[in-house]
Amino acid sequence: MGNVNTYLNDFDDFDELYNPARTDRQARRKRKPRANPRERKAGRQAAAEVADLAALEGGFETTYRPSRYEEGWLLQSLRPFYAMALITDVLAVVKGGKEASVYRCATQPDSGLGEVAAKVYRPRMFRNLRKDHVYRQGREVLTPEGRPVGLKGDRIVHAIEKKSAFGQKAAHTSWLMYEYTTLQTLHAAGAAVPQPVASNENAILMGYVGDGRMPAPTLHEVTLEPEEVAPLFDEVLRNIDLMLQHGIIHGDLSAFNILYWAGEITLIDFPQVVNPRHNEQAYTILGRDITRICEYFAGYGLRRDPAALLERLWRRYGGQTPQERQLDAARFLPGPDDDDIDED
Ligand SMILES: Nc1ncnc2c1ncn2[C@@H]1O[C@H](COP(=O)(O)OP(=O)(O)O)[C@@H](O)[C@H]1O
Ligand SMILES: [Mg+2]
Repeated sequence: MGNVNTYLNDFDDFDELYNPARTDRQARRKRKPRANPRERKAGRQAAAEVADLAALEGGFETTYRPSRYEEGWLLQSLRPFYAMALITDVLAVVKGGKEASVYRCATQPDSGLGEVAAKVYRPRMFRNLRKDHVYRQGREVLTPEGRPVGLKGDRIVHAIEKKSAFGQKAAHTSWLMYEYTTLQTLHAAGAAVPQPVASNENAILMGYVGDGRMPAPTLHEVTLEPEEVAPLFDEVLRNIDLMLQHGIIHGDLSAFNILYWAGEITLIDFPQVVNPRHNEQAYTILGRDITRICEYFAGYGLRRDPAALLERLWRRYGGQTPQERQLDAARFLPGPDDDDIDED
């Protein structure tokens, strides 16, 4: 295995190559001077080899034409869904994000699912692990079936701490399974989230928001009508409250992770969720979520006090004493120590 810097360089390269939604201009702007061109070339070669391998397997023809660098990972990640007849085609790329790319897929006409969104997570070695440990703190590792692996001492936890290839794979899957199991919990609870359809080690399938012409924009991308502002704020708050009732803090809530379609909102992007009682920074993380939402709606002149909202919600659902927090910190395993790759 290469050293950590190699991974980060690879990631930068892959970001330019793989991200289907990144324009050439964005890619150029993002490109940073790099110390070792040989490492970059190795990264490109690795990506190309993955692409070739998966293309060879064949059998899964898609309407959407992925780029050479995207193709291998995309087909490899979605083929299990295709094999299970959960999807029949990949129709278009919705968006290439930092951690994942999302595609619009067709399902069997008699499935009743309509079109679904496939969120394909970046190959783990290309993911930017920078802040993972903050969210992982106080979280158990989840298996591909979405079950906790058990507390410290477990072979998987050990592998993650050692950062072996197996451990990295387990951490990658756990991250994704947090998103999937959160969708399951919240969807069943009546939250405004996409319907979870299926998951595997690299991708999740969920309800698609939008239509054949365009995917739902994010709140950040739309202009609300004045009469929509207060009701939509209340709807976001209802969801924050509902999440807390189920021991969930989004952790990256903002106008970028809320879709808007036909007057309704849908919250997305849950891999980093934290538990208010198990994560030592839960209070801060919840406060940031609430502040970002208040700031967005303040842009429409809606005045809400984030500090007061935070206090109210925390008293109701979080509210650990320092002793309780210490107890929890001892009981729950700390996240794997990512210090060597966390530093900027
Ligand atoms: N279920 C969905 N339906 C329609 N578009 C979606 C859906 N899920 C995600 N997207 C689109 O894909 C983008 C990236 O998804 P997201 O879950 O936020 O991942 P990331 O970690 O890359 O931000 C979103 O901003 C949104 O535009
Ligand atoms: Mg997002």
